[in-house]
Amino acid sequence: LEDASVVAEWAARFVMQRITHFKPGPGRHFVLGLPTGGTPLGMYKKLIQFHKEGKLSFKYVTTFNMDEYVGLPRDHPESYHYYMWNEFFKHVDIEPSNAHVLDGNAPDLVAECNRFEDLIKEAGGVHLFIGGIGPDGHIAFNEPGSSLVSRTRVKTLAYDTLEANKRFFGNDISKVPRQALTVGVGTVMDAKEVMILITGVHKSLALAKAVEEGVNHMWTVSAFQQHPQTIFVCDEDATLELR
Ligand code: F6R
Repeated sequence: LEDASVVAEWAARFVMQRITHFKPGPGRHFVLGLPTGGTPLGMYKKLIQFHKEGKLSFKYVTTFNMDEYVGLPRDHPESYHYYMWNEFFKHVDIEPSNAHVLDGNAPDLVAECNRFEDLIKEAGGVHLFIGGIGPDGHIAFNEPGSSLVSRTRVKTLAYDTLEANKRFFGNDISKVPRQALTVGVGTVMDAKEVMILITGVHKSLALAKAVEEGVNHMWTVSAFQQHPQTIFVCDEDATLELR
């Protein structure tokens, strides 16, 4: 697509279409996986707009976020809890108990990751997982070298990710948390459908590695070549390195 704003609109319409065509029932919600970061902000704005216009309800939607930093207080402006509530959840009619974000302050982080996997299973699996990627091809916080069958776990962040995310921490890399909880590549691969948003020239190498080279755990998003229903929604800039 032309540019990031067209990507945002397209993605939001896609999500709306999936939710409105879903027939909820007792204990049966549309289950959505969600990313944070700069890329999906435009999509969240559009979804809020559709909700305010009365076209879209999240009453029968359950969400699972991809990841969360370890050790940042929940109300820290850079925590993914804060981001999700501020940028999205508080503006729509989602039931707060249906919006799941990993707890990076849980006393037992491994138990928290296992609990999250169990919750996804109990919800019946993810219908649509939306993701973003880093310039190094990571999806969620599945850094280069992550197992392509990984599940939700504690992950130490790669230097490139700290570098890319320091802009959110006053450009001070020492302030970026060193660890995160993240769904695994396998967790996202289990979703019925996956939509990955990729915008900007700084993601163009990652996009080329993801779709034009083989599946490779050094570019974890490349795993989705083997997913039956994955769509990459890209702007022109992101396609610069494609053949
Ligand atoms: C976000 C996430 C990450 C980001 C990626 C791109 O929950 O898991 O994979 O999607 O780092 O971030 P932005 O969109 O800020 O370029």
